[in-house]
Amino acid sequence: MARKQIAAANWKMNLTYQQAQSLLDELFAHKIELSQDQYIALGVPFPYLSLAVDKVKNLDHVGIAAQNCYTQKSGAYTGETSAEMIASLGVQYVILGHSERREYFLESNQMLTEKINIALANGLTPIFCCGEALSIREANAHNEYVGQQLQESLFHLSADELKKIVIAYEPIWAIGTGKTATAEQAQEMHAHLRKVLADQYGLEVASQIPILYGGSVKGSNAKEIFGQPDVDGGLVGGASLKADEFLQVIAGLK
Ligand code: PGA
Repeated sequence: MARKQIAAANWKMNLTYQQAQSLLDELFAHKIELSQDQYIALGVPFPYLSLAVDKVKNLDHVGIAAQNCYTQKSGAYTGETSAEMIASLGVQYVILGHSERREYFLESNQMLTEKINIALANGLTPIFCCGEALSIREANAHNEYVGQQLQESLFHLSADELKKIVIAYEPIWAIGTGKTATAEQAQEMHAHLRKVLADQYGLEVASQIPILYGGSVKGSNAKEIFGQPDVDGGLVGGASLKADEFLQVIAGLK
């Protein structure tokens, strides 16, 4: 079976409830043609999860993602949201370890291990984000750095568990900057990450893991980036906030 191709949206902390309703209505006003291996995941803010789940409930291959979950099962953690709560809404995915969470909320590779575990235990598909800052790329240490993020947060998993993970490579210097990695840079890193996975879990497992690219993906560049052999779709921020733009990104899946 071919690997899953995913167009994933990351709305981040944007849109009012009314704007979210309109965007969802616009996105699904017409039937989106998806082939057997193509999927859409919409990462919406917590207050809109139920709304979004309801809007897509009759659509095949379209799922909703939370943008985070807490490490603990339940209890006195004011303001946090558990994986169980998210799953109980009918949400399918959870974005974990986005660079903004690593930077502003100090999420470490170790903490992400716990988030990955609790997400999997509740039947959620983690979209695990990794990626290097510009200084690391300039020092030519990006392959090693991103490989280590995978190792430290994922390599405790069994092969069967790893197969439930989606990886999103997002070079920090390309996020929200309008500066994308070139298709070659994306392919080079994705091939490297697949090799890191293959060295640990074998080629058969590694070849099944979707690796998405993120960082200034938009309608006009999606096709070229997604066309790379080891790029299996994208995690899209800014361009996912406009229906026509995101529909074009979806159309870029191979
Ligand atoms: P961007 O964000 O598409 O706005 O660069 C991507 C992301 O942070 O997931």
